[in-house]
Amino acid sequence: MTKKLYVKTYGCQMNVYDSERMADVLAPHGYSAAQSPEDADLVILNTCHIREKAAEKVYSELGRLNILKQARQAEGRRLYLAVGGCVGQAEGEELLHRAPFVDLVMGPQSYHRLPDLLRRAEKSAVVDTEFPSESKFNHLPEESGRAGGSSVSTFLTIQEGCDRFCTFCVVPYTRGAEFSRSVTDVENEARRLVACGAREITLLGQNVNAYHGAGEAGEFSLAQLIRRLAGIDGLERLRYTTSHPRDLSADLIAAHGDVAALMPFLHLPVQSGSDIILKAMNRQHSADDYRRLIEKLRAARPDMALSSDFIVGFPGETDAAFDETLALAREIDFAQAFSFKYSARPGTPAAETDTQVPEDVKSARLAALQAILARSQAAFNASMTGRTLPVLFERPGRHANQMLGRSPYGQWVHADMAPEYRGRCADIIITEAHTNSLAGHAAASAPRVAAAGKTAPAPAFDEGRPA
Ligand code: SAH
Ligand code: SF4
Ligand code: F3S
Repeated sequence: MTKKLYVKTYGCQMNVYDSERMADVLAPHGYSAAQSPEDADLVILNTCHIREKAAEKVYSELGRLNILKQARQAEGRRLYLAVGGCVGQAEGEELLHRAPFVDLVMGPQSYHRLPDLLRRAEKSAVVDTEFPSESKFNHLPEESGRAGGSSVSTFLTIQEGCDRFCTFCVVPYTRGAEFSRSVTDVENEARRLVACGAREITLLGQNVNAYHGAGEAGEFSLAQLIRRLAGIDGLERLRYTTSHPRDLSADLIAAHGDVAALMPFLHLPVQSGSDIILKAMNRQHSADDYRRLIEKLRAARPDMALSSDFIVGFPGETDAAFDETLALAREIDFAQAFSFKYSARPGTPAAETDTQVPEDVKSARLAALQAILARSQAAFNASMTGRTLPVLFERPGRHANQMLGRSPYGQWVHADMAPEYRGRCADIIITEAHTNSLAGHAAASAPRVAAAGKTAPAPAFDEGRPA
């Protein structure tokens, strides 16, 4: 019997990857993709717990879905509602108290058990938030290549969990201890993705540069893994996210200098420019350590573009401490950056402190920081005009014969190109810089392809940053 599955994804790129894997697990059990919840027999919310706002979104969505579930029941049919991801893990049984109509609550380590959990949920609500002793990666089926695998640019989880325990962060509790997949496992999946059309792979991990997967002769570092994957025929670009400054090793920095497939862009969250705050956050590095890392990266790869995350209003953050964050943001010309107001998360050490910063102060600080970061991003994009950049085209743009691709630095680039360029790199002369994208036209050196007719509208795209 065929059934319809709708997965709604919140949060980070790993959730995007996980959502596809859930669909892969359920496909052999008769589930195919639904276009909307109205059209589904099972709706899974793949949730994010990183900030209060992200977690609260889940409950408003569940409220809407319950109305749909009741209407379905009145017709004598059943709509199953499942909550997975980090809210599922963090709240478990609690979630059922707030939303008793939910059929299944599970954490990110339970996805390979989905068919069994759904069978049990036919009788009564099921909660599964165990951290199993054996990795789910040993039990997940091979990816179908249906969603991510048919994309030019796709994600591949190589590491999950975090042992860093930053005092503000829920991830070590929701994703569990650090686990690295084996080199063979990763390489086989990368080869399958490339066979399905992927030309760029972003290696994912909550602390991806702490990767230490089993290889043929001992453990591989992330740099060694990257060197191995760079040898895959047809794989043109590699990226990785998210890194912790403390785990950015010399061999990884060196790889940026000599692995051509490794893109000159790194998301390296600094969180704060104040050593006092960094210490209270348990980041285990100073602001100067971060500056030195950037210098080393730029020595290895002069055009290295940097991105970061910042938290403003961490407990105990004084005006002086915040000024140090502003100074660091001004000093390092970030190509892009994400900034958030500190959100106290249940169960984390920072939430317990009595030095919480008032909401209005947080808002003012966020605005001040974002003004600097926006200028920095605009300057970075503007510096691209007149340059020729190799752009990997991913999908059609909004206009006929327009294509959308990524620069090596991760910027979206619009260019008038034939749809045949999908999955191919071409040299583009950049003529316009916007806030979030660039535009240009093919350099004479770009290979010609036959012109084609109308193109489909661009699908909605979510940057995949934590909500
Ligand atoms: N290493 C992880 C980090 C996830 S959280 C990764 O794979 O992306 C992403 C960002 O959210 C963090 O870098 C931090 O800046 C922000 N963040 C985490 N916890 C937060 C909190 N309690 N309040 C506000 N921002 C937070
Ligand atoms: Fe959270 Fe990242 Fe710190 Fe780990 S390293 S605790 S995921 S912010
Ligand atoms: Fe979890 Fe990713 Fe959010 S690890 S808490 S879904 S940012």
